[in-house]
Amino acid sequence: MTTLGTPLSPSATRVMLLGSGELGKEVLIALQRLGVETIAVDRYENAPGQQVAHHARTITMSDPVQLRALIEAEKPDLIVPEIEAIATPVLEALEAEGKVRCIPTARAARLTMDREGIRRLAAETLGLPTSPYKFCDSLAELQAAIDAGIGYPCIVKPVMSSSGKGQSKIDGPADVQKAWDYAMAGGRVGPGRVIVEGFIDFDYEITQLTVRAVGESGQVETFFCDPIGHVQVSGDYVESWQPHPMSPAALAESRRVAKAVTDNLGGQGLFGVELFVKGDQVWFSEVSPRPHDTGMVTMITQWQNEFELHARAILGLPVDTSLKSPGASAVIYGGVDATGIVFDGVADAMRVPNSEIRLFGKPESFVKRRMGVALVHDADVETARTQAKLAASKVKPRKA
Ligand SMILES: Nc1ncnc2c1ncn2[C@@H]1O[C@H](COP(=O)(O)OP(=O)(O)O)[C@@H](O)[C@H]1O
Ligand SMILES: [Mg+2]
Repeated sequence: MTTLGTPLSPSATRVMLLGSGELGKEVLIALQRLGVETIAVDRYENAPGQQVAHHARTITMSDPVQLRALIEAEKPDLIVPEIEAIATPVLEALEAEGKVRCIPTARAARLTMDREGIRRLAAETLGLPTSPYKFCDSLAELQAAIDAGIGYPCIVKPVMSSSGKGQSKIDGPADVQKAWDYAMAGGRVGPGRVIVEGFIDFDYEITQLTVRAVGESGQVETFFCDPIGHVQVSGDYVESWQPHPMSPAALAESRRVAKAVTDNLGGQGLFGVELFVKGDQVWFSEVSPRPHDTGMVTMITQWQNEFELHARAILGLPVDTSLKSPGASAVIYGGVDATGIVFDGVADAMRVPNSEIRLFGKPESFVKRRMGVALVHDADVETARTQAKLAASKVKPRKA
């Protein structure tokens, strides 16, 4: 699709975002800039992306009846999932009926909606290196899997969860029950299945942003961004930077793994491939078939940030993944549980040299909810990291 229409007219190119958080908001802004008509869907009203789209719709996206009804009523040209908790069989059915095109494909949305589909694809079908793992449905199965080879330390995660929810590390037998209970409380849906993974003692972890877009050949080609380094606390991203220095062998292996996974998932769009690296050894961890939270740093480091790259790729437009400047991002947390909060210190944060501040506009804050991000560019990545954390620390959210 290389012809674009006029929004709010019969010629409009209409794109529906399923999930409209801070990542969806930036994709929507990129689409708006191309005159695409946008429909922002979320489970709650006034989600960040709904505030910048032509149309806002609020439904339970994991409910197949509600999802199908909305898509059939709106008839978008493209469906762009931003979250995992979507009734993906509906997307597969509508795609098979020729009624919609899903980004990157409905199959990719299904395979990545829980940890099992994508892990089995990467490790068992594609033969890519991953941590040792086992799926378990009970505490007894979990203990048996650990005893039979996963060993200690290991990590337990609900199969349906993100941002570290329900995830914990097990250092020895005394932690197993606690990790199981925590996973049961933190999973996204119903009683739970977990993955237990052997702990990888990596030197560092990266996100390899990988774009499948139409190239000069007229065919879909693969483009790579510079590697993004990041720090996760309890499975949740707190800071990221780009580029992360890597040995040529580790970089080549990372891109081999990223290409294998994204080739298989197919379609067009940007993917965030998460990899663990130790020396020249690389393990595949997981992949988002969409912009990645650690990739927010590209809003200050790339000529075309990950959201613009996604928008261009899905529309069949050319992409440029080159770096503009090294830089870093640091998360601004809510710090309080309250609605309609205010932010002090934004001016002080912006006085940090080479910085930008983004506040997402989420209607409700939680202590550990991501409410904004500080971005800094600097010729030196380490300086950028220090300054991004400084800028983030100057923003003080509080109850209104
Ligand atoms: N097997 C593992 N070994 C070591 N660290 C891990 C392992 N699995 C996860 N982690 C750490 O936890 C983080 C979150 O795990 P991940 O599987 O990406 O969950 P989520 O889907 O919530 O992002 C990773 O980025 C990494 O820092
Ligand atoms: Mg992750």
